[in-house]
Amino acid sequence: MSSQAIIDRVEALLSQMTIEEKAGQLTQYFYFGGLPDPEPGIEGGFYPSQLRHFVEEQMKSGGVGSVLFVRDAQELNNLQKLTVERHRLGIPLLVGYDVIHGFKTIFPVPLAVAASFEPAVAERGQSVAAKEARSIGIHWTFAPMVDIARDPRWGRIIESAGEDPYLGAAMAAGQVRGFQGSDLSSGDNVLAGPKHFAAYGASLGGRDYDEVNVSDSELHNVYLPPFEAAAKAGAENFMTAYMGVNGIPATANKYLITEVLRKEWGFKGFLVSDANAVINLITHNFAKDRPSASASALNAGLDMEMAMFDSAYSGIPDAVANGEVSIDVINDAVRRVLTAKAKLGLLDNPYVDVARSEQVLNDPAHRVAAREAAEKTFVLLKNEMKALPLDAAKLKSIAVIGPFANNKRDLLGPWCFAFDLQETVSVYEGIKNKVGDSVTVECAQGVAHERRIHASIFDNDPNNHVHDPADFNEEVEFAKAVNLAKNSDVVVMVLGEQQAQIGEQASRSTFVLPGRQLELLKAVAATGSKVILLVQGARPLDLNWASENIPAIMNIWYPGTSGGTAIANTLFGDVSPAGRLPFTWVRSVGQVPMIYSRHISHEPANSDNRYWNEPGSPLYIFGHGLSYTDFAYSDIKIDKTVLTKSDSLSVEVTVTNSGERDSDEVVQLYIHQRYGTAIRPIRELKGFQRVHIKAGESQKVAFSLTPNELRYWNAAAKGWVNDSSHFDLWVGGSSAAALHTEFEVK
Ligand code: BGC
Repeated sequence: MSSQAIIDRVEALLSQMTIEEKAGQLTQYFYFGGLPDPEPGIEGGFYPSQLRHFVEEQMKSGGVGSVLFVRDAQELNNLQKLTVERHRLGIPLLVGYDVIHGFKTIFPVPLAVAASFEPAVAERGQSVAAKEARSIGIHWTFAPMVDIARDPRWGRIIESAGEDPYLGAAMAAGQVRGFQGSDLSSGDNVLAGPKHFAAYGASLGGRDYDEVNVSDSELHNVYLPPFEAAAKAGAENFMTAYMGVNGIPATANKYLITEVLRKEWGFKGFLVSDANAVINLITHNFAKDRPSASASALNAGLDMEMAMFDSAYSGIPDAVANGEVSIDVINDAVRRVLTAKAKLGLLDNPYVDVARSEQVLNDPAHRVAAREAAEKTFVLLKNEMKALPLDAAKLKSIAVIGPFANNKRDLLGPWCFAFDLQETVSVYEGIKNKVGDSVTVECAQGVAHERRIHASIFDNDPNNHVHDPADFNEEVEFAKAVNLAKNSDVVVMVLGEQQAQIGEQASRSTFVLPGRQLELLKAVAATGSKVILLVQGARPLDLNWASENIPAIMNIWYPGTSGGTAIANTLFGDVSPAGRLPFTWVRSVGQVPMIYSRHISHEPANSDNRYWNEPGSPLYIFGHGLSYTDFAYSDIKIDKTVLTKSDSLSVEVTVTNSGERDSDEVVQLYIHQRYGTAIRPIRELKGFQRVHIKAGESQKVAFSLTPNELRYWNAAAKGWVNDSSHFDLWVGGSSAAALHTEFEVK
């Protein structure tokens, strides 16, 4: 449809709508297709069947513009039919879903993908996810999550790209491109909805949903850049966050939504609130009642409300009648939602071909893509005496030990729902498939899965449960595991957190390995067998003991459907790991927050001695990650030493693979401004490239630093500035990059 045809279509519909129908178009309800009701007696459970009945009733009067959480093609076709046929205007539903890291084929979690330091990995993965989701009738994903996460107590760090705004911006744009492709009506793409606008990652104490207080400087320099990158990449939707930002709820924040997003960045799409965030304006002591809650959100620039049962937008007719919000504001919001439906081609055909969706979901190429993505994400934290890679020809027996050794659901991570466990490859299975019959591969769980003390909303989905059998005897299993370790040439231990222990509603106040996992690791190590530790997690779990005592440690995140295969390929050296940490790996919770791009302060020489009880340095730094070879950096060249404020700088460096194996390397560029009109961080990432270099070969890697990379938001000027200053520039394989040069901006 041409843009004029879209406008005509939208105006024609709008002119026929009553105020109640307009409020309906702006309302999105949870539907929870296929989710069973809880067993009687489960505390706090809700009843999805009641919700579905409620939503279907609302449809009759045009009271629903969008639904979320349906994962079946036939069910979606039925729902569309119901919507179109039950109401005189017949406007199809916009269907949203949390397609965070895959739909049926599960890719590594977003933090893992950020560790690849390769935005193309994010783009490819999300394009597969979009294709699968769209094939079943989902039009819109609540992703990418682009919140900067500097507090790993916050479970939602796993959905983010970690602590750095430059890396976060690149990953945000890559994901938007992947989801949306070039043509939304092609049937293979979905609308992207970057979230949670804005600064949700700064919640107090890392406690999910708590208040956020950030300075203007942090807001603009740290939290907003990934959102801006997502908007500039063409994202059609944004989701506002739950909490208040400096006292003003994000969902009714006119400054963020209208001034920054719409006016400064030129965003033309529509916004949705996070779940119940509009009605929560009342709960949060901000709005008096439903009409005033809806008016304050709409007047700030929000369009759609995401609601469960109770919608604040049912107050829209009263809010218009009593003058709290104008009909023009409502009309503009409805226009934006209808435009999205038109762009997707929904106004002509809201149905999908169920047989085609089966083919798309079962495309074996998707599992291959998931494996390739996973292989890019592993971070080799330690590899003493070349403990890795393993050589299967030299081994007779391998033990795979730990609660995640042969556990499929947890390997997929949180925020996935339509996965297929049959096709998911566990670590144990991946290793067994890899080494063939000549090596004995055995597996032992060793310890129980420690349970959360509070349930989360995700526990309503029975597919999310990993429970030990009632007769699981930890003493017996522990002894079995240690005995197996004793009698094996190599032990691959898979320890970490369950998927339900990280994500939304999964903040944590300690980073120790849950349950008796550390005790098991110590007992296994004491057998004297060679131990390789794989860490399944997405926060800096306590590896203080392991980092001293275990020769090889690799963080595997939650690697997805083909995770076990990718891990085996890496353990046995078909692939050299090259992922890098997208966050600072602290020694202990008490160090949080700790970031690499800090400001220098009083007595800089003592900055690592601030705690009297432990080093003030992290266990592993941002950007750290080893591979199976070594890289050397040389010949740094810049094309000028003095720049004007509008000049760009070309940087070139030679990277040499000086080891014996081909490998990827993540080349990182950092800068530091020596003086100016504000204090700037000691180092800031301003460029990175992942390159593949064969053993013994060298490659020239080039970067361009533009005025954009040198500017920053200045609290005194209350705006963006480019200072005159001298700058340091380093290039290397981590945030400790040593190859240095300098330049001046006049
Ligand atoms: C989360 C969002 C998510 C929404 C819908 C909320 O609780 O904060 O990230 O998109 O639920 O599932």
